[in-house]
Amino acid sequence: MVRNKKTAYTCQKCGAVSSKWLGQCADCGEWNTLVETAIEETPNKYEARLSGYAGVAQSHLCLLNAVEALGESRMPTGIKELDRVLGGGLVNGSVVLIGGDPGIGKSTLLLQALASISMISDHQPLYVTGEESPQQVSLRARRLGLEVSRIKLLTETQVERILTITAKEMPKVMVIDSIQTIYTEMLQSAPGSVAQIRESAALLVRFAKQNNVAIFLVGHVTKEGALAGPRVLEHMVDTVLYFEGDSGSSFRLIRAIKNRFGAVNELGVFSMTGHGLEEITNPSGIFISHHEEEVAGSVIMVSHEGSRPLLVEVQALVNESHSPAARRVSLGLDPNRLGMLLAVLHRHGGVATYDLDVFINVVGGVRVNETGSDLAVLLAVLSSLRNKTMNNELVVFGEIGLAGEIRPVPSGLERLREAVKHGFKHAIIPKGNVPPEGVLDMDIIPVSRLVDALRSF
Ligand code: TYD
Ligand code: MG
Repeated sequence: MVRNKKTAYTCQKCGAVSSKWLGQCADCGEWNTLVETAIEETPNKYEARLSGYAGVAQSHLCLLNAVEALGESRMPTGIKELDRVLGGGLVNGSVVLIGGDPGIGKSTLLLQALASISMISDHQPLYVTGEESPQQVSLRARRLGLEVSRIKLLTETQVERILTITAKEMPKVMVIDSIQTIYTEMLQSAPGSVAQIRESAALLVRFAKQNNVAIFLVGHVTKEGALAGPRVLEHMVDTVLYFEGDSGSSFRLIRAIKNRFGAVNELGVFSMTGHGLEEITNPSGIFISHHEEEVAGSVIMVSHEGSRPLLVEVQALVNESHSPAARRVSLGLDPNRLGMLLAVLHRHGGVATYDLDVFINVVGGVRVNETGSDLAVLLAVLSSLRNKTMNNELVVFGEIGLAGEIRPVPSGLERLREAVKHGFKHAIIPKGNVPPEGVLDMDIIPVSRLVDALRSF
């Protein structure tokens, strides 16, 4: 095989460059870090100095307050829940990466978004499909009952060809479904490899910025739940959105993991129906299972991520362990945090769980990323351990520190208000979150140490 001289292998750890692939980096000794990269041709130093290379001649200093603060111009997608996670609409010229498990609804959502954009504006969006045939995309559009007469479709996977065509059409919005199928002719590695994803994405990002074209990139997720491809992909784009949700349930959440133009952790909620994804504008109560009777091991908490409160149910199952190392399984919550909370429970609450398997699940496939769930987790564990039910009109939230203290969490009053709206009458919350007397019609139990909370049992 004739090697293309324009590529080299770069260590992703230390940056050392090698002309051929090696299993171990000769410089730093790390294994499997060499990745094929394109070499950019740079002028030699002498030429560089003559031509004012590095932009010396072009760039100039200015005072920060002299910079005109132009607000970013946004284009509403017409799907309110999507606009919400984007921070109030799609910013022109921005690049948005959408990740999620296969079959969760990425292509469906983006096709709906493009159709909606083409309806409410005079744009003609472009849908580039590398995974599905035009027939499949058209079949989906028909199934969704979408008006797609103004959406342009392109079946192509080579990024240079995509950009040549796009440069002629100049759409304001385009979708690349998916980035894993796209490749650049500059590299010889297979599509989907780290090097291909990174270089193709870099070309697309540059194109988006230079031409003010907003691009949605669909990204696959690995078995471990991370976006397949280099971490650097997340750094290159402006916004990273993740689909969450149980395959068994029809609810789908979209979370902003990173957003240069809005709040992170903002959630958009949808339900997958026979006609695609439908928005749920008031999602607060949908993730609670509403048991007929009180059940042990289930605690309702009010989480507050992004800009709205959400009632979620934390379930725990504590069972005698039959293996030398007790199991700690946590779905929807950080497993490391569970280990830490169980240690705090032992040290400051006097309840040992080292010989017990502990399983935690957040109902509905929701992921809770905030520390306000700490208290709910421990109370659910205790409730299951002692087989004692909690009042089903009780909500709980609060962060637990390593010293056994219970710390207040942001937006306490909003969380309580939401709970009252859904008919909850009691709350165990950090002392620092107690609202002024008479504001809420609710029985509030303030706690400042873990032992106080345990006493409520
Ligand atoms: P899709 O958008 O193709 O998923 P992704 O692009 O993330 O892989 O979604 C496909 C799933 O959605 C498939 O399991 C069928 C389901 N679906 C519906 O339930 N209703 C619909 O109207 C459509 C189009 C798909
Ligand atoms: Mg798809």
